[in-house]
Amino acid sequence: MPDYVLINKKISKFCKKINISPDKSISIRSILLASQAVGTSEISNLLESEDVLNTLKTIKKLGIDYSKQGNVYKIKGFGINGFNINKNTTINAGNSGTLARLILGLLVRSKYKIKLIGDQSLSKRDFSRVIRPLRLFGANIKSKNNLLPIEISGTEFLRPVTFNENIGSAQVKSCIILSALNTPGITVINSKKSRNHTELMLKFLKYPLKVQTKKNIDKIDIKGLHQFKAFQYEVPGDISSSAFFIVLTLLTFKAKIIIKNVNVNPSRTGIITILNKMGAKILIKNKRNSNGETVADIYVKGKKKLNSINCPKNLNSSAIDEFLIIFLVAAKANGVSKFRDLGEMNKKESKRLDLGINFLRMIGIKVERFHNDVNIHGNPSLKLTKNFEVKNFLKDHRIFFLSCITALTLGGNWKINDKSSIMTSFPKFLKILKKLGAKVE
Ligand code: S3P
Repeated sequence: MPDYVLINKKISKFCKKINISPDKSISIRSILLASQAVGTSEISNLLESEDVLNTLKTIKKLGIDYSKQGNVYKIKGFGINGFNINKNTTINAGNSGTLARLILGLLVRSKYKIKLIGDQSLSKRDFSRVIRPLRLFGANIKSKNNLLPIEISGTEFLRPVTFNENIGSAQVKSCIILSALNTPGITVINSKKSRNHTELMLKFLKYPLKVQTKKNIDKIDIKGLHQFKAFQYEVPGDISSSAFFIVLTLLTFKAKIIIKNVNVNPSRTGIITILNKMGAKILIKNKRNSNGETVADIYVKGKKKLNSINCPKNLNSSAIDEFLIIFLVAAKANGVSKFRDLGEMNKKESKRLDLGINFLRMIGIKVERFHNDVNIHGNPSLKLTKNFEVKNFLKDHRIFFLSCITALTLGGNWKINDKSSIMTSFPKFLKILKKLGAKVE
């Protein structure tokens, strides 16, 4: 089967209710915490994508068994650091930065040395952001230039740390929290705001963790070595996957969509705030609590007129994975949209800031860049007719999704390579597109 798709036709208006795929960040966290619980946890609606399957394979390699019955994954934990590790174990995080960074936190007390590797994209990403705090705890880490492969050897002599996390990275924060579970005493993190699924899940498990918010900083206190019991958990829908369908609908005249059961944790809903500031009128209805997270249904309608935005920097973290698709809306909006301080985008699965700007220029949009700030000159009458090919994007799933949504809303004849990248986060992406009437070959 060729690893590309062809799109030669815009999507026509649709009016549908859909279920989106389960949240990737929450799926990975639920597996890792189940691996540290005492007893058999049951997780339903787990995302079955490569990043999550690599998380399951990883805990299995570390001696934790799991099975699947119907829609439920059963994971049998033996408490904190209850891994059963063989000598010379290598774990492969594939494409997943979240898995790679979080698992290191759980290995600070491992009996033997563990080697961590990843795919081509992950092997280009910087691990100094987690190596530094893990060394402060006392873990032994070997790595060349702070890149994979990394070797970590645990220690029985861990000490609690006070760490200022000033990137605003949930992966760094969560790595430190998981390391703190293994460490006697109280670890303190002063963390620039980022998604807080790890904290919410631990609170749901009644783990002794305290969060105090001051301005843009969360002060998190974690008491180490507190065992927690196995749990049942249902994973909600992923807002980052929903984002592509939100924008598909918004940019399709007279289209309507309801996306059911989406996680609308405020640390993730930056895209809705931003698009509503641009005039999108997206509604969040039927909010409810699900295992400590907020879940709701999202209502979107096609909009003919969208305005540019001067995007407040404090929304960057809650929309960090969505800027590529937000850029597409800016390309169709009336006026010049301004985004600032987006350097973190270049630290993702690909250099997304660079690639996103090249993409906009390829479709004829004027973009000015000043270091990590961008101005996008919108063109509300933008229509594409030429041939486009998208390739060489390090198989970044979100570049693939962006390309499909652009082709379906703006037209042109597109060849989009590396279709298999959808397996990372959203294997049902093309199936849902087709259900809405998209013609994708
Ligand atoms: C994630 C955190 C974010 C995000 C990534 C998933 C997580 O990364 O971009 O897709 O699950 O913790 P950073 O923590 O590096 O910002």
